[in-house]
Amino acid sequence: MSESWTQIDQYIESHLIPHDPRLEQNLQNTAAHGFPDHLAVAPNQGMLLQMLIQMNQCKRILELGTFAAYSTIWLARALPEDGYVLTIEGRDTHGAMAKENIELAGLSHMVDARVGRAADVMKQLIAEKVPAFDFIFIDADKQSYPEYLELSLELSRSGTIIFMDNVVRAGDIINFENKKPSIEGLRELYRVLENHPRLLSSTALQTVGSKGHDGFALSIVK
Ligand SMILES: C[S@@+](CC[C@H](N)C(=O)[O-])C[C@H]1O[C@@H](n2cnc3c(N)ncnc32)[C@H](O)[C@@H]1O
Repeated sequence: MSESWTQIDQYIESHLIPHDPRLEQNLQNTAAHGFPDHLAVAPNQGMLLQMLIQMNQCKRILELGTFAAYSTIWLARALPEDGYVLTIEGRDTHGAMAKENIELAGLSHMVDARVGRAADVMKQLIAEKVPAFDFIFIDADKQSYPEYLELSLELSRSGTIIFMDNVVRAGDIINFENKKPSIEGLRELYRVLENHPRLLSSTALQTVGSKGHDGFALSIVK
């Protein structure tokens, strides 16, 4: 099945995802440095992120989990020239790779790439009272998603969109024998999303494709 999902993703990409040398260079440079190729979002998901940002005329984006900045490039290319992306990566090696890729893509002027634990950096941003973000993309360690959601709300305004990636994990969220912290963290996320007083609406969608069976959750801040 997964082979055909990949072929279908390739078909979709060949029709709907325009060629962008910055994205292709990112994947090539990251692979050339020996990093894995499965961590980044798929191109058709990158396009979905871009479209949500453009639909909502977002200007300030927060990303948790930069890896090598493939998704960061999708987020930045969705913005107008005066847009801003703050992206946080926990691992030094990933952070260095990301900075190199952001520079190669010519996006250093609008991407603020920080290295540190996402929760720590977010608490610092809250203490600094930075302006609210319009779009928040959560793609870091899954066990911390409930905490990231609450911290994101502190950095949001009414109408901010929160996109949480990898919330299905090939169905492990309903395999209750699986008690890994990442999976328990996602189950807690669903409990928190249900009737959250600060959220207008939330949903989650399953996805299949070149990255396997997973999904994302989406919330709008009240
Ligand atoms: C799935 S990858 C991100 C992929 C990237 N968003 C993309 O689509 O190109 C998750 C990243 O989160 C980082 N990460 C894990 N725990 C973290 C934490 N506590 N704080 C910040 N980053 C973390 C990992 O090192 C990894 O690079």
